Amino acid sequence: MKRRVIIDCDPGIDDSMAIMLALRSEEIELAGITLTAGNCPLESCFSNVKKVLHHMGCPDIPVCLGADRPLKVPFVNAKPVHGCDGLGGSDLPEVPGAPDIRTALDFLKEELGKGGCSVIALGPMTNLAQLIMESPESFDAIEELVSMGGSFKSHGNISPVAEFNYWCDPDAAALVYDHLAKSGGHITMIGLDVTRRIVLTPSLLSLMERLNPREGAFIRKITGSYFDFHWKSERLIGCIVNDPLAVAYFLDHGMCRGIEAYTAVARDGICRGQCVVDEKAYYHRQANAAVMTDTDAARFFRLFFRRVLGASEADLDLIDRCLMAE
Ligand code: BDR
Ligand code: CA
Repeated sequence: MKRRVIIDCDPGIDDSMAIMLALRSEEIELAGITLTAGNCPLESCFSNVKKVLHHMGCPDIPVCLGADRPLKVPFVNAKPVHGCDGLGGSDLPEVPGAPDIRTALDFLKEELGKGGCSVIALGPMTNLAQLIMESPESFDAIEELVSMGGSFKSHGNISPVAEFNYWCDPDAAALVYDHLAKSGGHITMIGLDVTRRIVLTPSLLSLMERLNPREGAFIRKITGSYFDFHWKSERLIGCIVNDPLAVAYFLDHGMCRGIEAYTAVARDGICRGQCVVDEKAYYHRQANAAVMTDTDAARFFRLFFRRVLGASEADLDLIDRCLMAE
């Protein structure tokens, strides 16, 4: 059965790979993409998403502009991670075209108002927080909300304790979790505990190119600076591709396992953006989140290779060999 989905994101290298996976998954009807400032400024997010949609042969997916900065804190982008253009310094040619005339907020209200629509959030949750403030009933109509962001027991990637998306707009993330705690709603947190396991290694990237030269070359182009960043910052030969795991989880809930817990996000100070996950129920509060703690990297890459690269079942076994060799 097809499910209608809005992807709210800040492309972004791994956002782009997540969009590729969604577009090649027939269970997903991508109603539109809403953008928020995050990895790069809003204009670069728009330019990047156009390039991805053009590459995928899907230029007509509505793309709506959202927040150009966090709710309260000054905007800090992640260009050192995602390259000067936010797409790995790939320097792909610009794709002409204007954004949808609707703002991200209007689009979210319109689509969610129809019912039966889910949201996969891959960037700072500024648009969603604004939706809560402006039209809580629209937010409450979200069928399923999956967010790449946060961290439970894994260390941070922008501070010792915080993950970038929640750190970038801590007030937005905090508002989303607080609202869900009050409304009885629910979010699935695909945080660093699980995404750190999804490492695109040089051998997996080479396998991509062997199996599908067109898609493999595109992914090599956009991940260039990502490999460099991970080497410099984590001494990792490869790159962590966070966002596609949120889409993969949406497609296959067996992709990750976790716990149900009341969860809140710290807004400021030294803990800015940190997730407080009440695993032991000290606060006696109803769970507002499913916090994912474990995943299966081979299962993820099998899905990604099958869908995005069109790999055959026989070819998929090569993934295990690549993973074992690491
Ligand atoms: C998240 O932050 C961004 O750099 C990525 O696109 C991902 O959404 C990982 O912390
Ligand atoms: Ca992102």
